[in-house]
Amino acid sequence: MMWQRADCDTERVDAPGPRGRLIMGDALSLDLNEYYEKVQCVYIDPPFFTGDRFTYRLRIGESGWLTGKRFIELPAFDDYPQSGRESYLGFLREMIHLARKLLTPSGSFFLHVDWRTSAHARLLCDSIFGEEQFRNEIVWSYQTGGRSVRHFSRKHDIILFYAKSKDHFFDITKVPSSKKTERTNHLKRHVDEKGRSYRSITTGGKTYIYYDDEPSYPDDVWSDLSHMQQKDPQRTGYPTQKPVALMDRILLCSTRPGDLVADLCCGSGTTLVSAAANGRRFLGVDIGRSAFSASRKRLSGAAVTCLAPQTGLPLMLDAAVEPGIGYYDVQLNAYTLPGDMMKRLDAACAAGLETVDQWYAGLINGGEFVVYASSVRQRHTPRLETRLQIPLLRGTVAIMVIDVLGNRSLWAPARSV
Ligand SMILES: C[S@@+](CC[C@H](N)C(=O)[O-])C[C@H]1O[C@@H](n2cnc3c(N)ncnc32)[C@H](O)[C@@H]1O
Repeated sequence: MMWQRADCDTERVDAPGPRGRLIMGDALSLDLNEYYEKVQCVYIDPPFFTGDRFTYRLRIGESGWLTGKRFIELPAFDDYPQSGRESYLGFLREMIHLARKLLTPSGSFFLHVDWRTSAHARLLCDSIFGEEQFRNEIVWSYQTGGRSVRHFSRKHDIILFYAKSKDHFFDITKVPSSKKTERTNHLKRHVDEKGRSYRSITTGGKTYIYYDDEPSYPDDVWSDLSHMQQKDPQRTGYPTQKPVALMDRILLCSTRPGDLVADLCCGSGTTLVSAAANGRRFLGVDIGRSAFSASRKRLSGAAVTCLAPQTGLPLMLDAAVEPGIGYYDVQLNAYTLPGDMMKRLDAACAAGLETVDQWYAGLINGGEFVVYASSVRQRHTPRLETRLQIPLLRGTVAIMVIDVLGNRSLWAPARSV
């Protein structure tokens, strides 16, 4: 069966839960007008102005996913290796302006930075949101990474938290944290007449009582959420990936179920994963192809609409479609990258279907590719399923492939099935 490239950049997955959108593009150049004043929480984890070129370490083939020993390093993003601070701050300023435009009047903004730019970022946010809208400078402290002997080890990030207006929504009761025993240990311990134990302290003539069985809530120093360890099963291989628990805390206190959350530098899609799992709608944007592939994979079970360009490379695909009773069987037989691209995979000795990282089968209908089945390589599914079943509905059968180099291509049979 002959297959040819199909011209359709929009991909839709229907699944239970609120719908999200993933866009590959420059957040500062996209037309996001339709989202103005619609977003309840904007989180941005931009490049930190490290001067580094970050790479995405993507495992290849079943053995790569099982052992971690076969992988390729793909460009992820350049963190201002040549441009000066002014150009970086110009980018940050525009991002903050955009975030503010997107927010509803009761919305929250979280900007994740570190020691390199936190002082500049604070001033920029003050000038764009207004000093009176400052809520917190959250210190997220962790223990991962190396240690320094030249100065104290830098073991925290800063997350600046601003409100759009005084009508700000915030519900700390949605983010109880484990008891801070170290904070209450020095307080006097009592038991009340109902047998409940509590601690108390009297200062300035006022007595404060903390029941041991009442939830406690985080303050602005978060040391209870660890960064991901090397072997953390959440790890996608995308650099600078943040833990889902961090995003859960941010989203749960600043949004309600069904609200819209936006991440304008979504990287591997952590915010979107958290939003989907917590019943929030989401908008994720990232300029990079590696980021798109990583996020797309993590969202393979979510209700999402994806917008990303296809690669123009001369790829080759062989597949078969067999109509059954009420469904089509779609069999992926072969996938070939052009020779010069294959050279990049020499070290990993990968060819053919091993170069497929994820594939989706569905139907093209009304200018959209609607996905009904997928197979993505990840830790718990290292093997690629080569046969997928899709419902026998109206539309043209189609296959979307994302390969290990991040090439995205949509295919349809040259003659109708
Ligand atoms: C620190 S990473 C985000 C990591 C993410 N929080 C995660 O958990 O994976 C920063 C991201 O910003 C993206 N980026 C940089 N400039 C951008 C722009 N103008 N528009 C959209 N994304 C951009 C980079 O491609 C990179 O993926």
